Amino acid sequence: MEPTQRPGTGGATSGAAVAEAPTLSSREFTVGFGAATIMSDVTVAFPSGSVTALVGPSGSGKTTYLRSLNRMNDKVRNFWRKGEIRLGDQEIHGREVDPLVLRRRVGMVFQRPNPFPMSIQDNIVAGVRAHRMAKRNELRDIAETRLAEVGLWSAVSDRLNDSPFRLSGGQQQLLCLARALAVEPEVLLLDEPTSSLDPRSTEAVEELIGRLTPRLTVVIVTHNLAQARRVSDYTMFFQDGRLVETGRTEELFERPKSPETARYLGAELATAPRS
Ligand SMILES: Nc1ncnc2c1ncn2[C@@H]1O[C@H](COP(=O)(O)OP(=O)(O)O)[C@@H](O)[C@H]1O
Ligand SMILES: [Mg+2]
Repeated sequence: MEPTQRPGTGGATSGAAVAEAPTLSSREFTVGFGAATIMSDVTVAFPSGSVTALVGPSGSGKTTYLRSLNRMNDKVRNFWRKGEIRLGDQEIHGREVDPLVLRRRVGMVFQRPNPFPMSIQDNIVAGVRAHRMAKRNELRDIAETRLAEVGLWSAVSDRLNDSPFRLSGGQQQLLCLARALAVEPEVLLLDEPTSSLDPRSTEAVEELIGRLTPRLTVVIVTHNLAQARRVSDYTMFFQDGRLVETGRTEELFERPKSPETARYLGAELATAPRS
C-alpha cells in the first residue's frame, strides 16, 4: 500500500531522486496517554536510505511519536494509539510481529548515553548475542568492526574488557551507536542524540550519521535547527501534537509553506505557490 504523503512532495514525486520503497511510514497515526492526546493523525513516509529530522518546540510530541515507530511505548502506563505504522508492507502492530525482532530492525539511540553495566565489548555485542546473529568466536571481530565504524576503535582497543562508564559522554554515545548498528538495523531512530555532547563529539556523531545512509534509514529528533539542516534530507515540523509541515530540508527551511513553520524556523514564508 502506498503511503499517502511523501515529504516534500505532497503526494507526487519531485525531481529529486526518491527511494523506491519507503521503509517506514505512518498513516493516520494518533497517540496519547490516558485522557491526553499527544500527537494526532500523522500520515507520512520516511523515504528509505535518507535522513529525516523531526523538529518542533519542546513538548510537541516528537519523542512520543519517535518511540511509537518501534513500539517503545508499548509498556508505558496509559499509552494508547490509533492508526497504522508500516515497515515495508508489514503493519508493526500485527499479531505476527515480535516487538524484539521489530526493535532489531528499527533500532534506537536516546538523548542520554545509556551503556549497559558490562564491558565495552559486551555492550557492542549484546544484541548480536541476544539475537544469535554470530558465533562466540566472531564476537571480538564484530566489536572491532563496529567500534571502528563509529571512530572509537583506537580509543578503546586496549580496554575492551573495561567498564564503559569511564569513557567521556561523547564516547559513550558513540558506543551506544555502535551497539545499535551491530544488529544491522534497517532503520535507526535517534532522539536528540547529541544534546548532552560537546561540539567535537556532536561533530563525530553527525559525521557518522552522514555515513549511515543510504544503507540505513535514519530518523533524528533534534532541537538544533542547524543540525537538522546539516544532517537531514527531509524535515518534519511538529507543533502542538500535529505534523504542521514536511518537505525536503532545504525547501522547508528556505521556503516554508505554513506561517507556523516560518515563525519557528525564523524563515520567510513562501508567499506565492512556485510554478
Ligand atoms: N509517559 C507519559 N505519560 C503522560 N504524558 C506523557 C508521557 N510521556 C510524555 N508525555 C507528555 O507528552 C507530551 C509530549 O512529550 P514528548 O513526546 O516528550 O515531546 P517532545 O519530545 O517534543 O519534547 C508532553 O506534554 C509530555 O508531558
Ligand atoms: Mg523529546
